Amino acid sequence: FATLKQSSQSGAPLYLQLRKSIEDAVNRGLIGPGDALPSERDIASKADISRVTVRKAVQDLVKGGILVQRHGSGTFVAPRMERVEQSLSRLTSFTEDMARRGMVVRSAWLDRGLYAPSPDEMMVLGLSSNELVARVARLRIANDTPLAIERAALSASVLPDPAGIGSSLYAALEMTGNRPVRAVQRISAANLGDDDARLLEVPPGIAGLHIERISYLASGKVIEFTRSIYRGDAYDFVAELRLS
Ligand code: GLP
Repeated sequence: FATLKQSSQSGAPLYLQLRKSIEDAVNRGLIGPGDALPSERDIASKADISRVTVRKAVQDLVKGGILVQRHGSGTFVAPRMERVEQSLSRLTSFTEDMARRGMVVRSAWLDRGLYAPSPDEMMVLGLSSNELVARVARLRIANDTPLAIERAALSASVLPDPAGIGSSLYAALEMTGNRPVRAVQRISAANLGDDDARLLEVPPGIAGLHIERISYLASGKVIEFTRSIYRGDAYDFVAELRLS
């Protein structure tokens, strides 16, 4: 990180000089996707500038999507995102989709439990006010890159123990004979709010995709009502169209 040393001759503000040095280091491959940046204190002392200046440069690069900050573990060069091409005509699970691409899937729990249903959950899942809804909310991660936030709601009678689903909701449903066979999926554009952007490790305000899936059993009964936010910079949804 000697390259981060500031040239005192240049008239540009120090934080801009530092920002450019870091950007150059990333572009020239001196630090690659996923690499940790030295601590604020180390950069400040090596470049002989204040920590406030370092913070300002780093914040700028986080906003621009060049760096990502992870709570408790530091600042990293943003992983290079290869876009995921996702078919719109097959009813698959996140785990299956990623496993097929050879990606390592992981989820972080955001919520799981039984709750009194909201009016839209009651309507979609056909619940009455004295029944409970099972909510399963997860950050879905593939190869260490967070790709989506998924909030699923099911009747508590099908999923009495939401914490017990393991790593795949569809695998858990399959075991009880409740795997959906049909779904209607609605995709709309949504700019990411601050909280979602932080979880997805992208700058707030970038484009996201809001995806709602209502899926059905062969009997026609609704089994799943899931609302998700996918990273707009990571997904291409593809459907084959035929002249019928
Ligand atoms: C997809 C769908 C969700 C579904 C999930 C199940 O991502 N958009 O509606 O709940 O797959 O995935 P898994 O079985 O990996 O938990």
